[in-house]
Amino acid sequence: MLDDTPVGRLPMHALRRDPEIELDGEWDFQLLPFPTAPLGATWKTVHVPSLWTMRESEDRPHYTNVPMPFEEVPPHVPEHNPTGVYRRRFTLWPTGERRTILHVGAAEGLLRVSVNGQPVGVSTDSHLEAEFDITDALVPGTNTIELRVAKWSAASYLEDQDHWWQSGLSRSVFLHTVPEIRLADMSAVADYDPQTERGNLRVTVSTSGLDHLYETDWSVRIEVLGRSLTLPVSPRLATRTLPKPSLDRSARPEPLLPPDFMDLLSINAAGAPIPPEFRAIPATMGKLPDPTPPAGTAVFALDGLDVTPWSAEIPHLEDLTVSLVSPEGDVADETRVRIGFRRVQVVGRDLLVNGRRILVQGVARHDVDPRTGRVVSRDRLLAELSLLKRFNVNAIRTAHYPNDRQILDLCDEIGFYVIDEADVEGHAFASTIPDDPRYLPEILERITRMVLRDRNHPSVISWSLGNETGYGAAHDAAAGWLRRFDPTRPLHYEGAISLDWHAGHAASDILCPMYPSFASLEGYSADPRADRPLITCEYAFSQGNGTGGLADYWELFESLPGLQGGFIWQFTDHTLDPDGDGRLRYGGDFGDETHNGPMLANGVVFPDLTPKPALFEARGLFSPVRIVSDAADAWAGTLRIRNRQTFADLGAYELELRVETATGPAGAVPVPTPAALAGGEGTIDIPAPVRELLTSGTALALTLTVRTREAAVWAPAETEVAVEQVTFPRVPAPLPGARASGGLVDAELRHPLLRRSPQLSLWRALTCHDKSFSLDNRFVRSGFFQLTPVDVELKETGDGAVVTTRYEAAFGDQVVHRRTITALADGDWILDEQVTLPEDTQDGLRVGMEFELVDGFENAGWVGLGPWENYPDRRASALLGSWESTIDGLAVPYLLPQENGTRGEVTSLLLTGPAGTVRTAHETPLHMNVSRYSVSELEAADHWWELPPSRKTVVHLDIAHRGLGTAVLGPDTRPHHRLTATEYAWQWRLTLSTEGR
Ligand code: GAL
Repeated sequence: MLDDTPVGRLPMHALRRDPEIELDGEWDFQLLPFPTAPLGATWKTVHVPSLWTMRESEDRPHYTNVPMPFEEVPPHVPEHNPTGVYRRRFTLWPTGERRTILHVGAAEGLLRVSVNGQPVGVSTDSHLEAEFDITDALVPGTNTIELRVAKWSAASYLEDQDHWWQSGLSRSVFLHTVPEIRLADMSAVADYDPQTERGNLRVTVSTSGLDHLYETDWSVRIEVLGRSLTLPVSPRLATRTLPKPSLDRSARPEPLLPPDFMDLLSINAAGAPIPPEFRAIPATMGKLPDPTPPAGTAVFALDGLDVTPWSAEIPHLEDLTVSLVSPEGDVADETRVRIGFRRVQVVGRDLLVNGRRILVQGVARHDVDPRTGRVVSRDRLLAELSLLKRFNVNAIRTAHYPNDRQILDLCDEIGFYVIDEADVEGHAFASTIPDDPRYLPEILERITRMVLRDRNHPSVISWSLGNETGYGAAHDAAAGWLRRFDPTRPLHYEGAISLDWHAGHAASDILCPMYPSFASLEGYSADPRADRPLITCEYAFSQGNGTGGLADYWELFESLPGLQGGFIWQFTDHTLDPDGDGRLRYGGDFGDETHNGPMLANGVVFPDLTPKPALFEARGLFSPVRIVSDAADAWAGTLRIRNRQTFADLGAYELELRVETATGPAGAVPVPTPAALAGGEGTIDIPAPVRELLTSGTALALTLTVRTREAAVWAPAETEVAVEQVTFPRVPAPLPGARASGGLVDAELRHPLLRRSPQLSLWRALTCHDKSFSLDNRFVRSGFFQLTPVDVELKETGDGAVVTTRYEAAFGDQVVHRRTITALADGDWILDEQVTLPEDTQDGLRVGMEFELVDGFENAGWVGLGPWENYPDRRASALLGSWESTIDGLAVPYLLPQENGTRGEVTSLLLTGPAGTVRTAHETPLHMNVSRYSVSELEAADHWWELPPSRKTVVHLDIAHRGLGTAVLGPDTRPHHRLTATEYAWQWRLTLSTEGR
């Protein structure tokens, strides 16, 4: 047992009690250096809920991933232990008939509660509510409540998650009252049998105040599915004793039992053949009676119900009302819950919901708000879930602790599958904590409390025993409890399988590795020993400009047996902006020492919930609709689509077709939604006008837009949820035009619009993944970050010149760039580029040209992939078309500045502004990057907001650009997206004009 073990805290339950006295708002506050430090004379006023670390200069947020932020070892904590003392008054006139319960939504740290100076209880477990019965400490009238939160306790070692260390009260505080005889808890197991298509419901209601009675005339009523059922509350059973042998010798006792009656108990239990002498005995004799419901409970069983099942796609809920009815027939207590009928099973290597194999298109979600730290308002929760739903995410892992209970209500309603994770991460001491008996009760408490709170939510399809706490006895103990207590959900624990994917069955029914390589997934799928569904608990690491290879993962998930998707790491960046000045911070920015820097800037959305391009990639891969036909079918007039969903038909969506051309979209027209059942296919007849456009020779792509038909909580009607394309072979543009007669040229291209003329560039501002230790400095080793021209040779050709430039890279390697310049009569240049890299080049970042324009360009238009940023391994969802943006709008402001904003497959680029017009054309599609900053400026800055305002325009046009991968934590980009060739050749045309567009 640890010191500071929770005392006085009420048992966790699943009932919903409405606040009667809200205690959110202004509280008096003092921050002490340690828990027993004397209080000062001055109090500040703070708002509850809030974290003092987001405001108090003496104790700021501290970011560590694995290490604890102090030197001590479990269970010891540092002497300096900032302790927040919160006090406030409230007025209450207790009636004496009801108990008053204090509900503290979440206290980050060790919570001690006192009322009117009287200690009431202690709690740990920072992300679950704690309730205390404060009745006996109350006085009529004004009462004072004190919540004292110590930052560190022995339990802190179980909260070593990869996020900011914060402290305070992060969820709401309120009071409610309950009658002396009341509902204590309620479990509703709403099962759906996919075979019979019927529902079964078990409602177990427990009460408080009646469980000591041998007789009760109280009852419980449930109302559900239009029915009302009542059962008596079970009384306490009298302790049974065996009849004593009679002492009465005056008459011969009658035989009551058959001979050797006691043998029957074990014979029955063993299932052994019943000897002939027992056969005449009624079958029920000699068997132990069925267990009667425990005292104070009522258990309802309804089978064969006509129900609509719940799934994330069709989240159908039913109301269930449970009432405790007094002998007089009055409702003494009542609770309501929304239930969903569904069955979750692991069958062989498949996770099934309602008998069907689902694909888990998930994200791992933390509680984060840049302004408040971990205090998340209901509006933000709704905004987060709405965003995820609009991007076709269907699952959430509550990494790495139970979320606010409101989020599960919303997941039930909006439709998400949830892996509910207990607040257990002993990362720094993972090898010892799970086997340390002192920590066993606390670990079990955290897991059981989560289950007791959340078990009625249909959205919760699996329990997670926590994260990164090694694997030990505590996990098996918790799993043992869970398997018996809730056999309806599979268990999930990564630590049980991390070292051996064929082990850890006691604690994990799902094979849930983190950041698996592609080869490991292929290997697992093909392995005859593989006996569990593989759902990655974390993958597609999204730090900075990352999430490369998401489509590679999905190719495997959708084609290989045993693989069922996973949870992208992670949903939001954790970067903080406590002052609201727009200067987001990461580890180290609060003076926190020993920190993991920008590693927590690894979400697919920015902290203000602006989606990053990676989320658009996911949206396409997770789309409910996939085009499965090709250009030839489209020319012939049809488009075949597949319904990727598991349960729903496509009735919820409206479809529209349009054609992309080099001059913009054309011919947008709504088309009827084919009646494709879940998993099935349907055909769209392409309307004649669209077909004509397709065959006119100008079509780049046929675009199918999928929008919602009706308004929902998460989106208004007509919200775009996916855009799919069929692309067509490109018709080569005629290059070049009439040549200029004679005279040029200089080794450099000179023009008033060019601040720097096009030059070879082999370097990008390294992404976090490029810098990963696993890539072993391979890019820096090439020396390509610095190219020094050592020799320039110019040969005139009549209409131009051939310029051969030899460069020396930083460590002496030779790079040769040979450019044939053809000057055209209209002043354009045709540039034929040839680049030879050193023979032993292992891998590169980019091969292309870079030039800088004078100030005065504002807008960009391009024909290629867009509209959002895309890279060779993150562009499965990018769309081919003609796109426009401001130049500023092309940037993606990853907080640690790095390569960003590139778009691929670009055949023409147009830059305009008061300074003039620049056009490029390239028959071989190039990767384009148009930025306000040079590569070196990006590399020199630590935060995006440190980059000085800039009006210049730096253009990169690359024949080759490396994929992004996820090498910080996960696989690198696949080999075909690396730059291993040493010879490159391409041609492009450059037009510069000082006249406006
Ligand atoms: C995992 C861990 C996450 C996070 C991630 C890296 O190992 O479970 O909490 O640390 O790596 O950001």
